[in-house]
Amino acid sequence: MKNIVIIGYGKGIGLATAKILSGHHKIIGISRTGNPELQHPNIEVHRMDIISGNLDDIAFPEVVDGLVYAPGSINLKPFNRLSHDDFKNDFEINVLGAVKAIQKLLPNLKKSESASIVMFSSVAAKTGMPFHASVAASKSAVEGLTKSLAAELSSHKIRVNAIAPSLTDTDLAYQLLSTPEKRESSARRHPLQRIGHADEIGEMAAFLISDKSSWITGQVFGVDGGMGSVKL
Ligand SMILES: NC(=O)c1ccc[n+]([C@@H]2O[C@H](COP(=O)([O-])OP(=O)(O)OC[C@H]3O[C@@H](n4cnc5c(N)ncnc54)[C@H](OP(=O)(O)O)[C@@H]3O)[C@@H](O)[C@H]2O)c1
Repeated sequence: MKNIVIIGYGKGIGLATAKILSGHHKIIGISRTGNPELQHPNIEVHRMDIISGNLDDIAFPEVVDGLVYAPGSINLKPFNRLSHDDFKNDFEINVLGAVKAIQKLLPNLKKSESASIVMFSSVAAKTGMPFHASVAASKSAVEGLTKSLAAELSSHKIRVNAIAPSLTDTDLAYQLLSTPEKRESSARRHPLQRIGHADEIGEMAAFLISDKSSWITGQVFGVDGGMGSVKL
């Protein structure tokens, strides 16, 4: 049984990942509000804001085998309406929160025989999309962080990968999916003609945490209904 820390375990993709992994592993879940419906003997939960909270307040296991960093943002505005604070806030939750978690847990990850870190980018990092300037800039930084850390940590046998989803049916995407018309037009923009489910992204995260992906590092995987790579 591995020890897996999931930051952002309570909703959406992090929750889907926690549900899949908790069948075989111990999960240490962290998010601001938690999820009272998620009760499982293998899941230990902590309420904390990853940006303002102090991770030293949590007694992590000495050996941590996996870290999933799931908080993020979809802050879509025309470029001239994006403020300096928008860019800063997006960078903070997408990049600096992950940096904080990885730096805290690195000594524990180094003690694992086969550690794996999973972060989240977005299809918008590599595919130019209007109104995505801030989130695309932050998610591109996540991809750079992924590749740089994969190189730096490879000597410790710590794998580092990222997943780049397209529009997925979670609370984060609520505003983009709030009417049947929006859902339909979003679905039609994808080559596979639908939006994603949190479970589909969670399966990839669980695979990347597992030893089934033991020879994969430094990669960014599009799980996106073809959006990032197929043109019809
Ligand atoms: N959904 C999409 O369409 C989509 C598309 C592309 C990329 N992504 C990326 O995929 C990742 C997961 O997205 P999602 O849709 O599952 O998001 P979500 O539904 O908003 O879930 C995010 C999770 O992170 C927690 N969280 C948020 N801010 C936090 C903070 N400051 N401290 C601690 N926990 C925090 C949330 O719980 P609390 O609110 O209780 O803290 C929640 O458990 C994100 O990085 C996102 O940018 C998503």
